Amino acid sequence: MIRVGVNGYGTIGRRVADAVKKQGDMELAGVTKTKPDYKSMVAEKKGIPVYAVDMKSLEAFRAAGASVRGTLNDLLQRVDVMVDAAPEDTGAAYKPVYQQASVKTIFQGGAGDMLAEASFVAQCNFDEAKGKRTVQVVSCNTTALCRVISAVDKGVGVARARAVLARRATDPDDVKRGPIDAVVPDPTTLPSHHGPDVQQVLKGLNIVTMAFKVPTTHMHLHSLILSLKKQGARREDVLAALEAAPRTQMVDGKSGFKSTAAIIDFARDMGRPRNDVYEATVWRDSVTVVDGEAYMFVAVDQEAIVVPENIDAIRAVHGGYTKEQSMALTDASLGIAHR
Ligand SMILES: NC(=O)c1ccc[n+]([C@@H]2O[C@H](COP(=O)([O-])OP(=O)(O)OC[C@H]3O[C@@H](n4cnc5c(N)ncnc54)[C@H](OP(=O)(O)O)[C@@H]3O)[C@@H](O)[C@H]2O)c1
Repeated sequence: MIRVGVNGYGTIGRRVADAVKKQGDMELAGVTKTKPDYKSMVAEKKGIPVYAVDMKSLEAFRAAGASVRGTLNDLLQRVDVMVDAAPEDTGAAYKPVYQQASVKTIFQGGAGDMLAEASFVAQCNFDEAKGKRTVQVVSCNTTALCRVISAVDKGVGVARARAVLARRATDPDDVKRGPIDAVVPDPTTLPSHHGPDVQQVLKGLNIVTMAFKVPTTHMHLHSLILSLKKQGARREDVLAALEAAPRTQMVDGKSGFKSTAAIIDFARDMGRPRNDVYEATVWRDSVTVVDGEAYMFVAVDQEAIVVPENIDAIRAVHGGYTKEQSMALTDASLGIAHR
C-alpha cells in the first residue's frame, strides 16, 4: 500500500483525498486543516484522519473540542507520498518541510514552476516522473491542452497550436473573487503563461495562448486551433484521433450540450461525485478543418480534471507501475471510460 497524505484540504485536496480512498493500492494516512470547521467535520465522518497544519492550529482544534490526530509533522512520519494542495503561494515554504521528512511530493500547477523536478500529465510523460522526488501536476487548463493536443498529434501531427481560453472567474465556493460583472483579459499582456506551461510537458511544441476571465464558476472553455502536419488531413481524421484519446470525452450540441452548464448537469445526472468532470470535453460538432487547420471548442472542469493526474503522479514517483497499469487503475476507480 502506498501511504498518502494531503496538505491543503480545499477544492483540489478534498477531491484527491476521496480519489486516494478509492485506490486499492493506496491508504489515505490523513489530511491537514488550518482550522476546525464543516470540512474537518465531514473528513472525520468519512473516517479520514485530520491533522492540524501547525501547533497554533492544533490549539484551535483542541480549544474547539474537535477531533485532531496531531500536526503536519506527525502526518509526515506516516506517509510515503504527500500531495501538496495548499494555496499556491505556500508551496515554496513547504518544500523544505517535505524534503526534511524525506517524503516524495506532488505539487499542483499553481504552486510555481521551479518547485518540482518534472511537470506531469499522465498520458504524455508518465515515465519522466518515475523515480523523481518531486513532481508537479500542471494546471487544469494546461492538463486539458496537453491531453487534446497530444491526441491530435498522435493521429495527424500538430505543427502549431493556438488557443484562446475563456476562464471561469472563480470556483463555486469562493466568495472572495466572484461573481464578477466583467470580461477580464487575464493577463492584458500576451501571450498567457499556458503556452510555456504546456511546453514543460510537450517539449518543443509551437504554441501561443491568450486568456480572459468570464463571469462563471463552472468550467473553462478553450477555442483551440491546430495546424496539422498530415497533408490533406480531414475532419474525420481529427475526430478519430480525439475519439481514441484517453481522458477526453466528446459531446454534441444536437444532444443538448449547448453550454458548459449542460456538461456539469450531465455529470450530475451520471452520479459523478460533486458533479466532477475528469475528462477534457470536446464538442464533436465544433471540430472543423479548413486549410490544414483544425478548429474546436474544449471545456475544462477546473475543479476535477487534475484529480486522475494526481493519482497517477503518486504511482509514478512511488514506482512499480507502468503508465498503462496506473491509468487503467485510476480510470476504473473514478468511472472514466478507459482508452
Ligand atoms: N481550483 C482550481 O481551479 C485549481 C485547478 C488546478 C490546480 N489548482 C491548484 O491547486 C492548489 C490548491 O488550490 P485549491 O483551488 O484547491 O485551493 P483552495 O480551495 O483555496 O484550497 C486550499 C486549502 O488549503 C488550506 N490552507 C490554507 N492555508 C494553508 C496552509 N498554510 N497550509 C496548509 N493548508 C492551508 C485551506 O483550507 P483550511 O483553511 O480550511 O484548512 C484551503 O481550503 C493551488 O496550487 C491551485 O493553483 C487549483
